[in-house]
Amino acid sequence: MFSQTILLSAMASSAIAATLTRVDYPNNATSKAPMHIYVPDKLAPSPVPLVVVIHSCQSSGEQYFRNNKIPWKQGSDKKGYITIWPSSPNSGGCWDVSSKRSLTNLGGGDSQAIANMIVHGITKYGGDKDRVFVTGGSSGGMMANVLASTYPYLIKAVSLYSGVPAGCFVSSSGSVAQWNNSCSGGQSRATPEAWGNVVRNMYPGYNGPRPKMQVWHGSADGTLAPQNYQETIKQWTNVFGYTQTPVSSVKNYPERNYQTDNYGPWLQGIYATGVGHSVPSNLTASEEWFGL
Ligand SMILES: *[C@@H]1O[C@H](CO)[C@@H](O)[C@H](O)[C@H]1NC(C)=O
Ligand SMILES: *[C@@H]1O[C@H](CO)[C@@H](O)[C@H](O)[C@H]1NC(C)=O
Ligand SMILES: *[C@@H]1O[C@H](CO)[C@@H](O)[C@H](O)[C@H]1NC(C)=O
Repeated sequence: MFSQTILLSAMASSAIAATLTRVDYPNNATSKAPMHIYVPDKLAPSPVPLVVVIHSCQSSGEQYFRNNKIPWKQGSDKKGYITIWPSSPNSGGCWDVSSKRSLTNLGGGDSQAIANMIVHGITKYGGDKDRVFVTGGSSGGMMANVLASTYPYLIKAVSLYSGVPAGCFVSSSGSVAQWNNSCSGGQSRATPEAWGNVVRNMYPGYNGPRPKMQVWHGSADGTLAPQNYQETIKQWTNVFGYTQTPVSSVKNYPERNYQTDNYGPWLQGIYATGVGHSVPSNLTASEEWFGL
């Protein structure tokens, strides 16, 4: 009797427990990236914050969701925000951060497909258009920089781990989701102004607000050279009109051997000495940056 009750209640709770769900979404992009959404059982008060969690290469939205090093499902359960888990449609599972169509506002690439997912999260699931956040690691971190540049009006804040500057993986032949050795190796270097222009040219004429950027990178990254951290900081300091010198720095924060550099209210860099590829997500610190 007792065990039967337990069994029944276990069945009942699993029947209602939130699961990751594949959904169709109105998608006018050439890219047909699949969308998964996770709506926790206990939702935050409406309108609900949305966090887009973008996977690394050789992964997918589903695999990333199940990866216990990726803490955003837990955050969603605890705080009641909705998470969106896009999947790369490209072979190898990397995001297209190299073709013109992904590196341009409404160019039709993967970035536009993810923008469409955000719009669907707002219109269909009650997401708060003023609290849309983006995070990602490695290829997902690159895409986070690209989204911040191509769809700045959709996103409030970004927390990206171990990526490269927006546009750094550009393909000279225009190929989709092409690896770029010059960028990954840290040889793609430019002035702050030139990197800022790369962002501005992804959406020419745009003058509205841009997302707050939090950039994490490890000093021992053997996949995307640590130089990409300096280049990314140059890029966003220029976009926000900040100098190259932090206004404040905190050593050993948020973890031992990490250093947090604040360049102004819209840009924070976190450099992790001794950490390789990629820096593990720190849910607390990213949520803090998002104001969640
Ligand atoms: C395509 O979708 C984007 C983002 O949802 C939207 O801003 C744009 O107007 C759409 N374009 C067309 C041609 O429908
Ligand atoms: C790699 O990216 C750099 C910019 O970071 C670009 O100048 C170069 O043409 C790209 N290489 C290839 C092979 O597309
Ligand atoms: C994550 O960052 C918070 C500060 O935001 C810090 O207290 C915590 O120790 C960090 N987490 C880990 C696992 O180090």
